[in-house]
Amino acid sequence: MGNCFCGLGGGKKKKELLQCKKDLLAFIDKENCGPILVRLAWHDSGTYDQRISDFPQRGGANGAIIHEPEMSMGANNGLRKGFGYLKQFKEKYPTISWADLIQLASACSIEAMGGPKINMRYGRVDVAGPQDCVGPKSREGFGGNAGLPDAKPPFGCGAPTASQHLRNVFTKKMGFTDQEIVALSGAHTIGRAFKERSGTCPFGYMDNGASKYTKSTSVARKDGKTGIGMAGGAAWTKNWLTFDNSYFKDYKANDGDLLWFDTDKALHTDPAFQPYFQKYAEDEKAFFADYAKAHKKLSELGSKFEGEITL
Ligand code: HEM
Repeated sequence: MGNCFCGLGGGKKKKELLQCKKDLLAFIDKENCGPILVRLAWHDSGTYDQRISDFPQRGGANGAIIHEPEMSMGANNGLRKGFGYLKQFKEKYPTISWADLIQLASACSIEAMGGPKINMRYGRVDVAGPQDCVGPKSREGFGGNAGLPDAKPPFGCGAPTASQHLRNVFTKKMGFTDQEIVALSGAHTIGRAFKERSGTCPFGYMDNGASKYTKSTSVARKDGKTGIGMAGGAAWTKNWLTFDNSYFKDYKANDGDLLWFDTDKALHTDPAFQPYFQKYAEDEKAFFADYAKAHKKLSELGSKFEGEITL
């Protein structure tokens, strides 16, 4: 059920968003590129700093990630590929802002891979250009990378533990609760890390760098079909092109071909995070419901809306 309060032209915009959504769902299914699109959207949102009130200085889901110096920030290594995937959609649908397109592609990816439908809102205004980007070092107390999280120590915010780091980044800077941190981290049920991008694992590009689960012959999709996009890297789960609650279960196998960073481990060792982690391992429906809410919140951090369109 969608309402449109955006006045003249709003109906047209909604129609375009719906058409673009249809095209994106088909593209994601063909290219198996959902994970990188989810990460692109999260890293656009993740520059948000709730201690700053002005747009666009507060950062967030405002399309700044397509500009330098944000795109070339260390934390965004590899995301240029995701931006490249979306250019054809921006050309076909020029009235959809970059900020909306990036968030739309992410929500479509979750849906296309079997995850929940997210009750998204559109109408985001883009930043004017590179001058509106959050610089790589400009988040007070958070070190580099505009305050995006680090997977391993030393943590940019100076926190002594991964739990403290997650709360500094997600709670102090972005305004999320412990429960939302655990739910959002469940996005690692999809996707991979690469030696050449984050450098957080020994697995790299193509079949010769691949783990057991990321070879071109691997099956990771929900429908059991082959096709994984580019081979290589390592994933958190065996079926890493399927959005389900495997993230909260697969780590137990202690498999060297799967990822498990300090920030993932903190979610089942920290006493306040642990009950949510366990709940999501046991109850996929609860995970989907909480994930969808937290994802929507993430997708609106720092955004300036003109009108309101829901699909
Ligand atoms: C909790 C703190 C987080 C840390 C430390 C973290 C760190 C990382 C790292 C190191 C990678 C590998 C990048 C590469 O080498 O290409 C990655 C991938 C990814 N992250 Fe996170 N992340 C965090 C939270 C999130 C959140 C909140 C989301 C989304 C809601 C997310 C979604 C993803 C996805 C989908 C990928 C896979 C990208 C791909 O396959 O290309 N992450 N993350």
